[in-house]
Amino acid sequence: MILLTGGAGYIGSHVAVTLLDAGLDVIVVDNLTNSNQASLERVQAICGRSLVFRHADIRNEEAIYEVLCTYGVTAVIHLAGLKAVGDSAAQPMTYYENNVVGTMRLVSAMTRAGVNTLVFSSSATVYGMPAYLPLDEKHPVEPTNPYGRTKYFIEEMLRDLYASDDDWRIGILRYFNPVGAHESGLIGEDPLGVPNNLLPFVAQVAIGKREKLHIWGDDYDTLDGTGIRDFIHVVDLASGHLSALSHLKQPGVVTVNLGTGTGSSVLEVVRTFEAVSGRPVPYVIGDRRVGDVATCYADPTLAERLWGWKSSRSLTQMCADHWRWQMKNPNGYRGT
Ligand code: NAD
Ligand code: UFG
Repeated sequence: MILLTGGAGYIGSHVAVTLLDAGLDVIVVDNLTNSNQASLERVQAICGRSLVFRHADIRNEEAIYEVLCTYGVTAVIHLAGLKAVGDSAAQPMTYYENNVVGTMRLVSAMTRAGVNTLVFSSSATVYGMPAYLPLDEKHPVEPTNPYGRTKYFIEEMLRDLYASDDDWRIGILRYFNPVGAHESGLIGEDPLGVPNNLLPFVAQVAIGKREKLHIWGDDYDTLDGTGIRDFIHVVDLASGHLSALSHLKQPGVVTVNLGTGTGSSVLEVVRTFEAVSGRPVPYVIGDRRVGDVATCYADPTLAERLWGWKSSRSLTQMCADHWRWQMKNPNGYRGT
């Protein structure tokens, strides 16, 4: 049995599908602060298999300990966390409490229950301003906001944990920019309020929920002046978790990028989305967003070398799948 913390969320629901499809048993623990339990009903519909759901907070060590023991959990994929960069600057203590303290309690419950295999959701945001590209795992880390620092501190905490007890098997996954949705259109990203991230915003403009996109700057030193990111299809990202899990057979701690290795500009995304949706995406150019970097993309070769994992889905497919999810669920899970 695999425990997925944060499994009702955007990435977690896709990881749940990947694990169930691979024949693994799954229990999800989520406090539903940024998700809807309907996502898990959809996951089960997609897979034709059931999973167990426990509504709990990862900071509740006793609840986690009880789940680990009751269900005979053998490994944990830990996705639960708060992730809004802007909110993390406004409420840093909330972020440290939820993400860092939450992970400490989870690890403590795992230690007591004798479960020592852990896959952790980190982020490319730990790299901060790129000193060179593509970003490999040896690139210096210097996160520029409290959210990124929670990820970095957790990474370091997990390395210290392994240094103190070399029975642990830990995979730290640094995601680049997850986008898209499951091809069924049944699960996808369901942001509350105004989306912070590019793809959900573009999709809401295309469907007419928002008037226009604000492109944050077109004066970067890039081909068309807009920012460049390594967008990765969430289903490819999810399969990276299964690869990690399958290869964490020996004790150790390994830190791996999950990206495509290819950067796409904001304007490229807009054009691709217009092409697959057949809808216009009007935009205006605004000032640069504070804290944004011009260009960010991964060197994803370590994941391939270690685990035989690489992404396969194109930007067109990312936009097409995102669009299918948006059309089928104009109000996300709230319409269900
Ligand atoms: P999400 O908000 O959709 O999912 C996170 C889930 O964790 C939610 O269902 C939320 O309710 C749950 N959660 C939060 N705090 C919890 C707690 N204390 N106890 C129990 N459940 C809790 O976000 P996502 O995009 O699916 O991200 C998943 C993970 O990946 C996060 O850790 C995030 O920081 C990381 N990540 C995301 C991105 C991205 O762009 N989406 C990029 C890099 C890393
Ligand atoms: N952008 C716009 N307009 C918008 C939203 C975004 O022009 O309304 C631009 C941004 O300026 C940037 C690009 O689109 O150039 C991508 O922005 P996102 O907000 O989608 O993604 P970021 O790269 O800024 O950050 C995301 C997550 C972080 C995570 C990081 C790396 O929000 O939490 O990817 O994984 F750490």
